[in-house]
Amino acid sequence: MSHILIGVGGGIAAYKVCSVIRHFTEAGHDVRVIPTRAALNFVGAATFEALSGNPVSTDVFDDVDEVAHVALGRKADLVVVAPATADLMARAAAGRADDLLTASLLTATCPVLFAPAMHTEMWEHQATAANVATLRERGATVMTPASGRLTGTDSGPGRLPEPGEIGLIGDLLLDRADALPHDLAGLEVVVSAGGTREALDPVRYLGNHSSGKQGYALARAAAQRGARVTLVAGATTDPGDPAAVEIVNIDSAMELEREMSRRAATADIVIMAAAVADFRPVAVAGSKIKKGDDGPVPIELSTNPDILAGLVRQRVRGDISAETVIVGFAAETGDADGGVLDHGRAKLRRKGCDLLIVNAVGDGRAFGTEDNTGWALSADGRETALPFGSKTLMASRILDEVAAVVRNGDRHID
Ligand code: CTP
Repeated sequence: MSHILIGVGGGIAAYKVCSVIRHFTEAGHDVRVIPTRAALNFVGAATFEALSGNPVSTDVFDDVDEVAHVALGRKADLVVVAPATADLMARAAAGRADDLLTASLLTATCPVLFAPAMHTEMWEHQATAANVATLRERGATVMTPASGRLTGTDSGPGRLPEPGEIGLIGDLLLDRADALPHDLAGLEVVVSAGGTREALDPVRYLGNHSSGKQGYALARAAAQRGARVTLVAGATTDPGDPAAVEIVNIDSAMELEREMSRRAATADIVIMAAAVADFRPVAVAGSKIKKGDDGPVPIELSTNPDILAGLVRQRVRGDISAETVIVGFAAETGDADGGVLDHGRAKLRRKGCDLLIVNAVGDGRAFGTEDNTGWALSADGRETALPFGSKTLMASRILDEVAAVVRNGDRHID
């Protein structure tokens, strides 16, 4: 059990923080909520008290005997500020201590997560940008807000990230305080995720069990590390749309190939986390295939392109920049020819990518589960174990390896 402090700013999105409180109490954590006075215009203290099971105060002069303005911050293992308004982040960046929340932020030594919500002009204003930069320099994680409908009729960047996503990122920071450095700022990242569906007729397809969770976690973490991210998504079990990520939906491997080769042309990092069908039906029936009287009709298949290997070839030809880092995935089981790592090493050579993330599968591991484990094999021979953990944690470790390749420039060269 950890001590979670949830600071609530005075914005209309304050009501959404109720789900964030739930996320942490349901995981068994002790949650204390500190709203600003303005937040109480949107959600009453009674709601926060009922959801957290703890008393709520806003003022440094409440509970003076317990020295709450010092004690709450000191005791916290994680502080989540949501919605983080422009004013609240300005006060935090200036080191003010004019209410219980800002005073607590000054005494907290744990990871601090700000989930901003405000109108686009306020988010993009230089003053806010400077405050966000200051908070990040001091080690806080300031999420990039989502884009979409804001209060009123306007729309754009400034929407509070979904409560589920704030919860996931909070969990990640509890596991690993330095999981989200802002080290991918200015980079363009394209991630594929989910499974392809190869149509047989207008109602049927050949598909696979990919949940898309690992690819979505990578897109989410890359966006929160500052990258501009496009997620090319096949079929998933709906892992929730990550904030500040452009999503392009595809069905088949051929569509995925088209999108990836087009988008990779301008990308700095390409991550192929999708589960691509190796084969597709030669013909797609124009109308629903009938049972008929002659029993099952055989399905003739043809081979899909290897998209990952194709991207590497595009780079060799010069259609993709030599600087672009290409990352593949391999789900392996050991067999008579070798262990999981032997197969991974051979696949890294065969595909020619810069980094291959190898997952051991079988016995219920990896597919559709919440956790993952594996290795990152890089073209220069580096092999890093990725310890067991949530797919969000795995994503942050994978991006560490990707960032190292970007920094060191050790691409695959042949
Ligand atoms: N991949 C791809 N195009 C395909 C198949 C796979 O781009 N047609 C990518 C996947 O997204 C993944 C990597 O290649 O990043 C590994 O896929 P995998 O199916 O394990 O590789 P295969 O070459 O099919 O090897 P195997 O012999 O193990 O089936």
